[in-house]
Amino acid sequence: MDLRIKDDLALVIGASDGIGRATAAAVAAEGARVTISARSEADLAEAAAALGVDHIAADATEAASVDSLRAAWDARHDQLDILVVAVGGSHRSPFEKLTDADWQANWEFNILATVRVVRAFLTALRKGKAARVVLFGAASARMPYAEQIVSNVHKAGHLALVKTLAAELVADGIRVNAVAPGRTVTRLWRRRSEAMAQQEGTTPDAILARFADDIPLGRFGTAEEIADVAAFLASPRSGYIVGQSVAVDGGIGRGLL
Ligand SMILES: NC(=O)c1ccc[n+]([C@@H]2O[C@H](COP(=O)([O-])OP(=O)(O)OC[C@H]3O[C@@H](n4cnc5c(N)ncnc54)[C@H](OP(=O)(O)O)[C@@H]3O)[C@@H](O)[C@H]2O)c1
Repeated sequence: MDLRIKDDLALVIGASDGIGRATAAAVAAEGARVTISARSEADLAEAAAALGVDHIAADATEAASVDSLRAAWDARHDQLDILVVAVGGSHRSPFEKLTDADWQANWEFNILATVRVVRAFLTALRKGKAARVVLFGAASARMPYAEQIVSNVHKAGHLALVKTLAAELVADGIRVNAVAPGRTVTRLWRRRSEAMAQQEGTTPDAILARFADDIPLGRFGTAEEIADVAAFLASPRSGYIVGQSVAVDGGIGRGLL
């Protein structure tokens, strides 16, 4: 399917690795002119060279850094057609061990970073060609995982963020949607499985196999499988979809809604 995004200007944040990087690759493969962003300049430069795209380093959880990112974008471009924010993540911990600082950090990571970025780029998006915003929620929003209370709460809030933001921005011709991934093999799960394997005296593969057990498809997703849906949402081919958080989760979300 031709996504009809050739020459669209796209900015993908959280894109030196994982789902963000795969999404940047998917939209670049469709001919969009892509810029990627993340914190580590070295990783970002390596990813940008591999993908053949531009890059601007920034920390989406820091207001001043997002302002600099927007200034750097404005110096290069007049508008923005596709904005993807792939910053966020789950946090495994029993409730009792979580401090206020843990709650606040996860709030910044899963909600406030996205809020800040979308707000910073509103002017550029309004000038875009029927601009599209693609965010990332999680399957845990609809089916809370054990021992992930802090990210369960914030990803549930993310559903409301997407729905409400979409309703407000659609009047400006900006379409907002999200992908809600299930367990996906990225740096996040590589690090988690290594840490858990060390604690339990087993291998990372054994940990991943255990977490794959309750996925109906019987395996983790790949970043590319998530990115294909994100690229579709970032294109005019999804033109009648507004305010949705589309599950791409191997069937792990068993609820009706
Ligand atoms: N993987 C899963 O199983 C899964 C499941 C459900 C939902 N999701 C959601 O999917 C999205 C992407 O997850 P992922 O697994 O692909 O993550 P990931 O593999 O950890 O990749 C994170 C990317 O974001 C960048 N990043 C991290 N913090 C950042 C910040 N403060 N500002 C800017 N960039 C930042 C990282 O580079 P730097 O560290 O250099 O900044 C890296 O490029 C997240 O919203 C996550 O909640 C993932």
